[in-house]
This record gives sequence, structure tokens and C-alpha cells, in this order.
Amino acid sequence: AAQFAVFGHPIGHSLSPQIHQAFARQFGIELDYRAIDAAQDAFAAAVRDFFAAGGRGANVTLPHKTAAFALADQRSEAATRAGSANVLTRLADGRLAAHNTDGAGMLRDLTERHSVDLRGHTALLLGAGGAAQGVAWNLLDAGVETLTIVNRSPASADALADAIGDPVRAHTRYWEDLASIGSYDLIVNATSAGVLGKALQLPYSLVGARALCYDLSYGAAAASFLAWAKSADARYAFDGLGMLVETAADAFELWHGKRPQTDPVYQALRQQMA
Ligand code: ATR
Repeated sequence: AAQFAVFGHPIGHSLSPQIHQAFARQFGIELDYRAIDAAQDAFAAAVRDFFAAGGRGANVTLPHKTAAFALADQRSEAATRAGSANVLTRLADGRLAAHNTDGAGMLRDLTERHSVDLRGHTALLLGAGGAAQGVAWNLLDAGVETLTIVNRSPASADALADAIGDPVRAHTRYWEDLASIGSYDLIVNATSAGVLGKALQLPYSLVGARALCYDLSYGAAAASFLAWAKSADARYAFDGLGMLVETAADAFELWHGKRPQTDPVYQALRQQMA
């Protein structure tokens, strides 16, 4: 039986198997890691089957992160504040622990790989779904001065701001008002528009003089947002490939007790995608 897996739907293009195999090779570990496609109504049963058959750990991606959080017996603080999980681990007694490494992974990508200090930045978070919930707290932890959350449906932006509960720093604006809410130092695209093949219509006025634009997705899904950022003369425009590798490294360490080197894996994937 597989010991490790990634669950998603669709899952065909997931880079997680390749990333975990590359990490395992750094330590001479033989890894059984596969991708499991489970539709939404089949997810919980597929997870139980996997762990009952000896599975030790699973990564969870779209659209299952909330369900993964819900079915766990135990939840880390990062998972609890995000309300979603991208890692499930079987504990010694057979119970399942949920963790969320997305926000920490994004932050390490920004601060260590890209050497960005977010302290004092005015940040704009586009989206308020699972991905946005996974990173919002970490942006505040990193010292952004303000976090403005804008979502197409205002109710979920309000819910996220309420959950954060820091009205001085974290507040919402309406999507319809994007053209009149000024400019930002950091703009994070946490919408799934790119994944769904849609382009956001964003005004250039959002992009401040030294702005950093960051898309949580990568590859074709990030192309439109990054092209917009470059047209708007953003100082930096990064996709989320580094975040993906960093979040995988956290999962790997949880499962194997060893910290893999992320840079060689990131560089190899970057070349592969070019
Ligand atoms: P994820 O886990 O990727 O965040 P999600 O929880 O389904 O997925 O959330 C998708 C996010 O992308 C939401 O914030 C969604 O906005 P709504 O809450 O209004 O649906 C946003 N989104 C998706 N497509 C979008 C589009 N074309 N324009 C603007 N926002 C979009």
C-alpha cells in the first residue's frame, strides 16, 4: 500500500509526487508516494481507506482542504486559524492530525528565497477562499502594516476579517471599488480565477511604486496576473512555485523528521516549466 499520497481533484498535474521524491533522494529514502484523484463526495472515504491500508501521511489540495480539516481528530494551530488543512498525518494511535503549511511556505518563499522584508508593507489580499485563509494570518505575522481583503463576494471577505479580529490592521473593501482604493506595496492573488482559466480585470492603480505582486498559483494559472503586474510596472512579480516547494518541505519534515533542501528542487522545477 502507498505510504504517502496527495489527494485532489483534478490531480493529474500535481507536482507533489515529484517534489517529495526529490526530497527523499536527498536522504536516500525510498518513498512510495502517489497521486489519488478523489471527487468531493468520495474524499473522506478515500482518505480513510488510504490510512486504514497503512498510509502514513497525505497532502491535500483543491478542492479538499476544508474537508481534510473537518475529518481530522486533531488540528494544529495553523490549520485551526485557516480552517483548512493541506497535510494529514497518522498518529501512533491511528488518529489523524491536520496541519496547514501554506502560509508558512509562502512566507519562507518571500522572505528567504526572494529576500523580501514585509514589515511596514500595505498589503492587498485578493480572494477570501481557502487559499486566502491559509495565508492571511502569516502576512500579519510577517509585520505588514495593513491587510486589505477584497473578494468578489463581500461576505467571505468580511468573515475572514472578522476571524482575524484585528480591525486596526485587517479590514475589507469592495471588489467594485478596486479602482478607487489606492495603491499597495504587496498584492497577493489568492483567487482561483487563474486556475479556472479566467483573467481578473484589475486596475493598474493598485500597484504602488515599489510593489511586489505574488500569485499563490504557478504555471499557466498565474500567467495572467503576472502579466498584469509587469504591465503595471510592479517591481517584483512572483508566482507560487517556491511556495509549493516550501509547503512540501514542511510536510516532508513532519513525516520524516528531516529538513530537505528546497532550492535545488525549486530550480529544477523552474527549468522544467520554462
Ligand atoms: P481556493 O482554495 O483556491 O481559495 P475557493 O475556496 O473556492 O478556492 O476560493 C476561490 C476564491 O477565488 C474566492 O475568493 C472566489 O471569490 P468568490 O468568493 O466571490 O467566489 C475567488 N474567485 C474565483 N474566481 C474569480 C473571478 N473570476 N473573479 C474574482 N474572484 C474569483
